[in-house]
Amino acid sequence: MCGIVGYIGFEDVKEIILGGLEKLEYRGYDSAGIAIANNNNVYVCKEKGRIKDLRGCLDVNVTGTLGIGHTRWATHGVPNKINSHPHQSCTKRFTLVHNGIIENENELREKFLKDIEFTSDTDTEVIVQLIEKFVSEGEEVELAIRHTMSELEGSYALAILDKEDMNTLYAAKNKTPLLAGKGEGFNMIGSDAMAMINYTNNFYEIEDKEFLKITKEKIEIFTIYGNKVTRDTYTADIDASDTEKGTYPHYMMKEIEEQPFVIRKIISEYSDENGDLFVEPEIVENVKACDKLYIIACGTSYHAGLIGKQFFEKIAGKPTEVVIASEFIYNMPLLTEKPLFLFISQSGETADCRAVLVKVKQMGFKTLTLTNVKGSTLSRESDNTLLLYAGPEIAVASTKAYTAQIAVLSILAAKVNNKINIDIFKELGKIAYTMETLCDDKDNYKELAEKFLVKSRNCFYIGRSMDYFVCLEASLKLKEISYIQTEGFAAGELKHGTIALIEHDTPVIAVITQESINLNTRSNIKEVKARGAATMVISLKKLSNETDDIVIDDVNELLSPLAAIIPAQYLAYYAALLKGCDIDKPRNLAKSVTVE
Ligand code: AGP
Repeated sequence: MCGIVGYIGFEDVKEIILGGLEKLEYRGYDSAGIAIANNNNVYVCKEKGRIKDLRGCLDVNVTGTLGIGHTRWATHGVPNKINSHPHQSCTKRFTLVHNGIIENENELREKFLKDIEFTSDTDTEVIVQLIEKFVSEGEEVELAIRHTMSELEGSYALAILDKEDMNTLYAAKNKTPLLAGKGEGFNMIGSDAMAMINYTNNFYEIEDKEFLKITKEKIEIFTIYGNKVTRDTYTADIDASDTEKGTYPHYMMKEIEEQPFVIRKIISEYSDENGDLFVEPEIVENVKACDKLYIIACGTSYHAGLIGKQFFEKIAGKPTEVVIASEFIYNMPLLTEKPLFLFISQSGETADCRAVLVKVKQMGFKTLTLTNVKGSTLSRESDNTLLLYAGPEIAVASTKAYTAQIAVLSILAAKVNNKINIDIFKELGKIAYTMETLCDDKDNYKELAEKFLVKSRNCFYIGRSMDYFVCLEASLKLKEISYIQTEGFAAGELKHGTIALIEHDTPVIAVITQESINLNTRSNIKEVKARGAATMVISLKKLSNETDDIVIDDVNELLSPLAAIIPAQYLAYYAALLKGCDIDKPRNLAKSVTVE
């Protein structure tokens, strides 16, 4: 998926677009481009690579007060200059940037564009050529755009310039995030609020199959049929400083260190005036009323869901199943009579999750979204939303959102039915303190990363029960930013085959925070050590040995994943740093995957 931004107003648009794209780079960074309406012409500059590479090739003398920009995570067409956006129609009258995937591009080429010579391998170029074709057949621009929308199958957030009308910025949206930002004497569009927050905090949510006609004075929203839509604006609960690195070398380091604060913020946001747990009653009732909770998520959020299942079953006594979103659609489990679907998504835009949300809503089931982004697609389309209050998470590798998800899940479970009388707020308060002490041990993590990881081509995290779920997240962190092939493995399962991979100096990191399995995992450590592995142990103090490498102050075992993941986040950070990898924007990845 990609990021788009557009501006029409009175200021020179270059820095506004480039700055907005930099805020969106976390969404995709294979290539970038900008188009500026300048003296009855449209100047286009696009380049493979990052925004900084685009800056390097931009003609600084080109100015204009209308422009669009794009930062790309390639889906169709390799990431190169030709395939980067913006794309132009054959006469160069129309210029367009697109986030999403057009599923029927080939049929449209066949049906409407056989005589067109395409310049790129992208699905996006089909859109801009279609608009030109319909205009060349006599349609007004607005109608041609809405006609094009009616032919498209798939997802799109579009920003469009018409060389013959330098006073208008067009936009359109279906299944891919797009917001319009209202300013004084200017207006903007963007893939999310952060791209515009330096200029306005006054946004319109744009719904599927809506079309926008934007001038510097006003924003008009229409349905695909041309009916005018009126809608109030809203303000995003972020401010511009949240999206800056400050003195941190990387967003990931900043976000790791924000975790204690986030836990404390969650406690306060989910407290009532007496300091007791508060969750919207309708949400609590919906969870109580269901006969099974289905947690749907991807990646790190899926890993948080695995921990959440433990809370709902052990604290609330609610049967729970955790399903990877992209699997659910094609392999739906046998559902119970009264299921409730809980979507966990930091961005609230993950297409795999949204596809499930659309399906289960069609089946008439209730839905709840746990997300970090108010007003996100999943949030808007679910019956209810629980917010993470983690602040913008910019680094592609999720850290504070993961622990925030786990914290909110524990609060919800305890609010539904606290069968074990756990004092969640007291335990979360201890977790926040323990996180702070763990954040102070950076030199140790850096040393361990250098000793065990930097020269390794593979690595294993092993654990049992809750520790196994932590290992899944710990291994995703390590592989996605350091590119070391890492597996999170159930410690008891190793001997059933995978232990064949253990050879001299293979790093094996054991996580031990559950008393019931302490000795079992320690015997697994001996098994791999006997086969040459280089072992490291992360353990809870009450279970630790003097040879353990990282010892965590004692916390409630149910909430121990919130603490045990901190060293793993740092180990991944330092392994990537020492290997010279791009920590905040790892290769091939994007922060929010808005394509299935
Ligand atoms: C996390 O480190 C990854 N970048 C990725 O797995 C992410 O958790 C996943 O894409 C889900 O994103 P979401 O929480 O925004 O839905």
